[in-house]
Amino acid sequence: MNVLTIGSGGREHAIGHSIAQSQTKHTQYFAPGNAGTAMLGTNAAIDIKDFSAIIQLCLSANIHMLIIGPEEPLVNGLYDAIKEHQATKHIHVIGPSAQAAQLEGSKSFAKSFMHKYNVPTAAYQEYSKHNFEAGIEYIKQHALPIVLKADGLAGGKGVIICNTHIEAIAEFEMMIKFSKFGEAGNKVVVEQFLQGMECSLFAITDGTSYKLLPIAKDYKRIGVGDTGLNTGGMGAISPVPAITDALYQKIVTTIVEPTIHGIHQEGMVYTGFVFIGLTIVGNEPYVIEYNCRLGDPETEVVLPRLHNDLVDVFAQLTTGNLNQVTIQVDPRCAATIVAASGGYPNYYNSGYIIKGLNTYNTQVSTVYISGAIQDNDKVVSNSGRVLAVTSYGTTIAQAVANSTATLSTVHFEDMYYRTDIGYEFIN
Ligand code: AMP
Ligand code: GLY
Repeated sequence: MNVLTIGSGGREHAIGHSIAQSQTKHTQYFAPGNAGTAMLGTNAAIDIKDFSAIIQLCLSANIHMLIIGPEEPLVNGLYDAIKEHQATKHIHVIGPSAQAAQLEGSKSFAKSFMHKYNVPTAAYQEYSKHNFEAGIEYIKQHALPIVLKADGLAGGKGVIICNTHIEAIAEFEMMIKFSKFGEAGNKVVVEQFLQGMECSLFAITDGTSYKLLPIAKDYKRIGVGDTGLNTGGMGAISPVPAITDALYQKIVTTIVEPTIHGIHQEGMVYTGFVFIGLTIVGNEPYVIEYNCRLGDPETEVVLPRLHNDLVDVFAQLTTGNLNQVTIQVDPRCAATIVAASGGYPNYYNSGYIIKGLNTYNTQVSTVYISGAIQDNDKVVSNSGRVLAVTSYGTTIAQAVANSTATLSTVHFEDMYYRTDIGYEFIN
């Protein structure tokens, strides 16, 4: 098949890498891709907001399968655009319709969906400029900390955890009255704070049946010991040793099944991933958020643990045969450590030459490119998160140690990575 993957991060490199392992030979395209995907196929310099350019590429490259990595094109209706076009509607599209992508694109939509289908989640109220004063009153009597969420997509920055009422009121006002997050903050969800371990579970669904991929945990904070600013994710592990079989069963029964049931009941057109962001409070799982795609860097540990042929799974998904798929999981642990450009997630420099990409031990690790481009014979950073180094191990500790060893042989100026990924599960 001719397969086009949309996106330019470690997630898309990992998807491409998995497809390249397939028994059947596929021709891969990426838009826009990165220095890693350039080694697997053809990168097309396309703006992923430009749906007509994507459709043109689908036609000129005779694309059979389209995999949509990031949330933005999904929320903006890339699935629908492909399906509405006579010449592209036959393409297997991996990703939900715009309506279904609202599970990620609108916190308010997701919360009312969870409420309707009895999916455990934090208590909340939502406000806009019409009931702004009521929102202030609600915040004043709310227990601390208070979680404020801009309703729409805000590039991962739309969630603010406030430790004082004064801060919460100020942020609330900034969002609603001063458009801190633009239109995304016209509506604000005010939510109860949930304290517990977070983890990420990915279901692949056709809107009726589903299959679960290995569970993962990502490390969102920039600093060692989960301190400092939130980032896109500084590392991930799979499996999550704290998730016992009994707890996993509870997650499936109380969260996954009602979620898929809800998607079905609502008649959502969905052929893709549901990313269920969980927080475990005591022994009870709650949904923190839904995303309508794979996570990054979780993909860099989830896909390496999947033995199935990815294109085959996707083809079964889009032809209504997902039930016939048996997910085969590698029993080994996997860990990925993200190497970022110093200063990220605040100001950082790009343009650093990455060394060691051709000489590291590929028996030990895979280095996924998260943010770097090919510049003649050099690979040069172009984003905050630059690499994601994944390794297997019989334990999380061993997988992390292997990635750490590989990181000592790969280098760019100002390279920063967390040295404690998986720390809770390492003695
Ligand atoms: P999101 O943008 O929805 O992915 O949220 C970003 C992060 O904010 C989550 O990964 C959590 O760490 C944190 N968060 C979101 N909602 C809550 C909540 N109700 N309680 C505690 N932390 C939260
Ligand atoms: N790692 C979290 C995300 O992809 O949103």
